[in-house]
Amino acid sequence: MFENLPQLPADPILGLMDAFRNDSNANKIDLGVGVYKNEQGETPVLESVKLAERDILEQEKTKVYIGPAGAVEFGTAMQNLLLGADHPALRDNRVTIIQTPGGCGALRVAAELVKKGNPDATIWVSDPTWGNHIPLLGDTGLQIKTYPYYDAVNHQIRFDAMTDALQQAQQGDLILLHGCCHNPSGADLSQEQWQTLTNMANEKGFTPFIDIAYQGFGAGIEEDAYGVRLMAEQLPELLIASSCSKNFGIYRERVGAVLMVAKNAEQARACSSQLARIVRGIYSMPPSHGAAVVAHILENDVLRQHWLGELNAMRERIHNLRGQLLDQLNAKGAGSDFSFITRQSGMFSFLDISPAQVQRLREEFSIYMTSDSRISVAGINNNNLDYLSSAIVGVL
Ligand code: LMR
Repeated sequence: MFENLPQLPADPILGLMDAFRNDSNANKIDLGVGVYKNEQGETPVLESVKLAERDILEQEKTKVYIGPAGAVEFGTAMQNLLLGADHPALRDNRVTIIQTPGGCGALRVAAELVKKGNPDATIWVSDPTWGNHIPLLGDTGLQIKTYPYYDAVNHQIRFDAMTDALQQAQQGDLILLHGCCHNPSGADLSQEQWQTLTNMANEKGFTPFIDIAYQGFGAGIEEDAYGVRLMAEQLPELLIASSCSKNFGIYRERVGAVLMVAKNAEQARACSSQLARIVRGIYSMPPSHGAAVVAHILENDVLRQHWLGELNAMRERIHNLRGQLLDQLNAKGAGSDFSFITRQSGMFSFLDISPAQVQRLREEFSIYMTSDSRISVAGINNNNLDYLSSAIVGVL
């Protein structure tokens, strides 16, 4: 049975973790996977998470099943975080939410719901998009098409080309958008562009499907939900996949959510039952611990403020590193203009250098990034900035 299955290459993003670990160069730099790192190059557990875990350890009374939709308190806390507690879609009971194993679980379960609703739907994803979007969504059997998004020459969004391409989208198709901190480009939609896409969705009848995995890493926890909140208010239907991996730093706990907005309360209830059935048929129910931590933090004013402080510090550190990298590249005579790095937001930017230059950085300098030249900015620190910027300028 298994003899026809060939060995597959390592995952383009996760494979970098192993390659980096096995590199013996003392100067090696990891700009690969999108995990936050502090000035010491570590990804510590947030203090707010530790405090919440301590409370849960003391207070948890049972380990009984939580059911396919996950914990009610988590769902309520997450819908408030995503939409804001007084959002009209919540008032109209048009919203349903379920807890999932991470943002990946959310994307896949949401795609399975799409397949049930419209097996002929095409999901349009940005070119480029996060490396796991196409496997995660395409493995459902739904068709995937791309729309132009990032212009690597001018280092900005190709919005006219994007909207031109989306003229081809059919009623019932899904348009995958990144809620904030576009992965991999760091180039985000403006408020005006969100409005234009909302109007297009209303006119053409396609459904936006927003992946928001970095809420709080762009402009702020509320600001980053702008597109989500606008579309949830102005559109009859919307799908959202959310992740708590980065903003709570609980990557391995696998915490995410699917939030869907339906035309009315009756359809929201029907979709809630469909989502539960999908989950039951794949993994039965999500793990509890990480979501319990998130719910506890969001429900407790002191812990919430503590967490927001830690999240803001992570965002500001990355923002400052962008400026420092630009200054160093300029000081070392980079020649080309890298100022776009400071206009982009979130964990990532492209360096917009060639795959051959990326390979040289890896082979000659032990600097790791994905082959499309995406860097995870938080991997930079005061100890490696000089070496990194010299190496980049060296391969230009
Ligand atoms: C990334 O893009 O590096 C992260 O989202 C981690 C992952 O799972 O790929």
